[in-house]
Amino acid sequence: MAKQRLGVVFGGRSVEHEVSVVSAMEMMQSIDLERFEPVPFAVTRDGRWLTPEETRAQIDRGDALFAKRIDADVPPLAERPEVIAALAGNDAVFPLIHGVNGEDGTLQGMLEMFRIPYAGCGVAASAVGMDKALQKQLFERAGLRVARHVVVMSHEWAGGDAGITRGVEQRLGFPAFVKPSNGGSSVGVSKVRSREDLGEAMSAAFGMDRKVLIEEAITGRELDCAVIGNDEPQTSPVGEVVAGGEFYDYAAKYLDDSARIIAPADIPAGASDAVRRDAVAAFRAIDGAGFARIDFFLPDDGVPVVNEINTLPGFRPVSMFATLWQKAGVSYSELVSRIVDLAFERFRQREAFGA
Ligand SMILES: Nc1ncnc2c1ncn2[C@@H]1O[C@H](COP(=O)(O)OP(=O)(O)O)[C@@H](O)[C@H]1O
Ligand SMILES: [Mg+2]
Repeated sequence: MAKQRLGVVFGGRSVEHEVSVVSAMEMMQSIDLERFEPVPFAVTRDGRWLTPEETRAQIDRGDALFAKRIDADVPPLAERPEVIAALAGNDAVFPLIHGVNGEDGTLQGMLEMFRIPYAGCGVAASAVGMDKALQKQLFERAGLRVARHVVVMSHEWAGGDAGITRGVEQRLGFPAFVKPSNGGSSVGVSKVRSREDLGEAMSAAFGMDRKVLIEEAITGRELDCAVIGNDEPQTSPVGEVVAGGEFYDYAAKYLDDSARIIAPADIPAGASDAVRRDAVAAFRAIDGAGFARIDFFLPDDGVPVVNEINTLPGFRPVSMFATLWQKAGVSYSELVSRIVDLAFERFRQREAFGA
């Protein structure tokens, strides 16, 4: 049987560009090469798309891990029919770009217009999965526990911060967490200890997005649960992240190894069951498909707090998502194969419903 051509789209415009490049290179080496022919599509930091041939030339440069950035002086995608034709020639596509134009529903929308099956969440779920303020509303409506929070738009902050600061003080207290609503990898996230520090944190977060969340600081363990499936989502065992520093920041995630993954987490069975149940509820709340990782806090009272859903979690074989499935007996290559099967299933459903 002919191999399935699996487009792998990576890089992209977000701060997680380098992370995405590493994930893609490792994925293309680790998938079932009897079944798939990986077809790589790199996207530069300014959003330009390369052909598979151009991409291979970039991959072959021997840069250090996490230092590889895709740079190429090529015209925009709209002027590159050769890239679009190569993309449309795939049997399925695995979007591996984190953040803007990759994880946020826009790439998914483009793939739907070209009628190409793709891995992971659809347009709406991807968009909501990128927006921490919107997803919290859906989680609350689904009966899930979330941190108390305030959403501030940049024009509101610019219009006068005294009232907002007072509201934060009264409703949330300090310390508080400030984060861009659309973000990732902890970039722009700050822990604020007092009202005097709020301004600086808000500026950092507004550097990433026009919508910023201020949240009560939750004291508790940080747990993750991985989900795969469409209509019947399955959960992995629960994992724990132990941050080496003050919180799970960018350096801890990728650079200095100060964070550790404990899988499965050493927590009571009741807490693990609650996290898994809430992970499925969160996945359903955003109308998830394919896969996602749902992140929680577990405070001392034992009732999980949903922090966020990631519709494109770190996807390296050593990342939490794949590690948790490995603990459930699903190897990395099997995981990718199943996710592509789910992409075909969802594609057939969409076609059948005429959507
Ligand atoms: N409300 C909160 N209470 C306690 N810690 C938090 C809170 N919000 C974020 N953090 C810490 O900051 C990290 C990054 O925040 P998160 O909302 O997960 O953003 P990102 O999308 O960048 O991962 C979390 O992993 C956690 O360590
Ligand atoms: Mg996070």
